[in-house]
Amino acid sequence: MKRNLAAALLLLGIAVSAAHAVDVDGKILPGEYAREVSFDKGSFRLLWRIAGDKVFMAIDSDAKGWVAIGFEPTRIMANSDMIFGFVETSGGVRAVDAWSTGMFGPHPADTAQGGKDSILSFAGLRSGNRLVFEFSRALDTGDKFDKIIPAAGTFKIIWAHSQSMDFNAKHSKAGSAALDMGGSY
Ligand code: HEM
Repeated sequence: MKRNLAAALLLLGIAVSAAHAVDVDGKILPGEYAREVSFDKGSFRLLWRIAGDKVFMAIDSDAKGWVAIGFEPTRIMANSDMIFGFVETSGGVRAVDAWSTGMFGPHPADTAQGGKDSILSFAGLRSGNRLVFEFSRALDTGDKFDKIIPAAGTFKIIWAHSQSMDFNAKHSKAGSAALDMGGSY
């Protein structure tokens, strides 16, 4: 009897953790992410889940070109740790870990500035007029071109997307927000 109970609890535990796992596969499933915010009437949705010492993020957007999220700028874009996603209609996906050196860029890749590419995994898909770009990263990468992402409390971010796939092309839309990170789930 005790053994059956233990087995049932184990199965329940597996089911609960599976429901909370993020698959970095370019698809957002119901319940996959813990938190979400929407900008520009849904033109740019940001979803995230903190799992242990990692963060999983997804961007769902109607952008024709790149999408990007920037962490903790000092002013406008300056000193912001940025992650760019390029999701091609052909299926090709690229991700760039970057850092904006000035208020209006430029934002070279961390690797071009002596830092490292801290993106642990990424994936993306286009469907109809929308795209999904997902990535994961350590909350604290130890790289000086990465901000430490807090698991809870307020965190300032900027977001942007472009009509172009050119890394140096300006955004068609951009904005900023203070996220309530919400803790680990
Ligand atoms: C090559 C890429 C980029 C260029 C050339 C660029 C350039 C600029 C310029 C000139 C402005 C001043 C306002 C304006 O003219 O609209 C600006 C504002 C801004 N940018 Fe960028 N930017 C780039 C990438 C990014 C990225 C990747 C992000 C976010 C992850 C971002 C976030 C912002 C934000 C939040 C503002 C303020 C917008 C506002 O207050 O309306 N930018 N950018």
